[in-house]
Amino acid sequence: MRRFLIETWGCQMNVHDSEKMAGILGPLGYEATADVNRADLILLNTCSVREKAAEKVFSRLGQLRGLKRLNPDLVIAVCGCVAQLEGETIFRRAPYVDLVMSTAARGAGPRAYVTVMEGCNKSCTYCIVPFTRGREVCRSAQEILAEVRDLVARGYPEIEFLGQNVNAYHHGTDELSSLLRMSDRIEGVRRLRFTTSHPGHLDHRTMDAMRDVPSVCNHLHLPAQSGSNRILRLMKRGYTRERYLQKISYLRCNVPRIAFSTDIIVGFPGETEEDFTETVSLLRDVEFDQVYAFAYSARPGTVAAGMTNALPEALKQERLQSILTIQEEIQLRRNTALVGRSFEILLDGRPPKEGPGVRGRTTCNRIVHVPADASTPNTFLTVRITRAHAHSLSGEPLLGSRAA
Ligand code: SAH
Ligand code: SF4
Ligand code: F3S
Repeated sequence: MRRFLIETWGCQMNVHDSEKMAGILGPLGYEATADVNRADLILLNTCSVREKAAEKVFSRLGQLRGLKRLNPDLVIAVCGCVAQLEGETIFRRAPYVDLVMSTAARGAGPRAYVTVMEGCNKSCTYCIVPFTRGREVCRSAQEILAEVRDLVARGYPEIEFLGQNVNAYHHGTDELSSLLRMSDRIEGVRRLRFTTSHPGHLDHRTMDAMRDVPSVCNHLHLPAQSGSNRILRLMKRGYTRERYLQKISYLRCNVPRIAFSTDIIVGFPGETEEDFTETVSLLRDVEFDQVYAFAYSARPGTVAAGMTNALPEALKQERLQSILTIQEEIQLRRNTALVGRSFEILLDGRPPKEGPGVRGRTTCNRIVHVPADASTPNTFLTVRITRAHAHSLSGEPLLGSRAA
């Protein structure tokens, strides 16, 4: 038996591609290993969304190089978005690499990902994705639904639709809302999610599907990027702070206990103290349940990379830190309000780092650790929340809770 190891960086697209590759390698006689020293095939699935991405890849390759001396049959492959951008340069700088593949999966856990569309037709001025993933191409609903049926039959109760701009999905007369409604009717589909949604494309049909379709989870990842209208305009995001807030409040009124997460970029070229304050106030107004914050990094070839008013790195880092601190406080407060309440969680079977027990997710996408191991992965468990942390919850099983 040969062994493979895939290291995955970047977004869900890559996570999904890695799963696909693992799924292909199995039948070819490979088994997964977590130990680089025992691997016969090492695959780096790379991301180029932020700066120094290529450097990180070359530095990791440098570390792996020594393994080739010990195992001359070792195959080192690079795929994903850095591979897409750098191409043959990778062979030139790291000749011991055997394979470079551009961007094009299924794995552990109860959640299966289904790519419904590839690419992105937006042109956010900071973003490299349209260069790495190309124009939007949507798959037919028929094809997607067939995949959903197959996944459910293979034991995945939760399905997440993927696309860089997933709510722009359209194929014939089908759109995201109809896809959700049709998938909901497939027997065995217990939870449906979709990511990433663009605030400008989020229409009432999708929002109403979140309200009306039983299996659609009450969580939405809606990247705001900034709270300043001036910066949003410079980013070419195509919405204002006010329109963003309108959508949040429509959803809060219509979808019980909906949770929101977002992406924020701090330190976009020319971002003033005032612009930054607007972003902080957006975080305070919305009170997101989770925030992924990034310091702006110039990506070659993008419009923003040509802007001459870049901010000093130290200022970007300072702003990033302050966002993280503020958000940590908000999250802890919001999670603390959940203590004593009960939730149905879908167990993922992965042992938590914290010690014995199991962990699972609520429909609102919170991680709950449960100190009990009598449960089977991929099943549902009802728990009562006993403790809150900024990034997760602890809970205890409720008696009489059912397994699905
Ligand atoms: N299509 C999605 C995700 C794009 S990439 C969307 O539109 O939201 C994921 C996140 O990385 C983005 O939401 C953004 O917050 C961040 N990001 C993208 N380009 C970046 C850059 N040049 N510098 C810093 N963060 C960036
Ligand atoms: Fe990038 Fe904007 Fe497309 Fe998202 S919507 S992938 S940020 S260009
Ligand atoms: Fe995803 Fe990174 Fe590529 S965010 S699309 S893996 S550049």
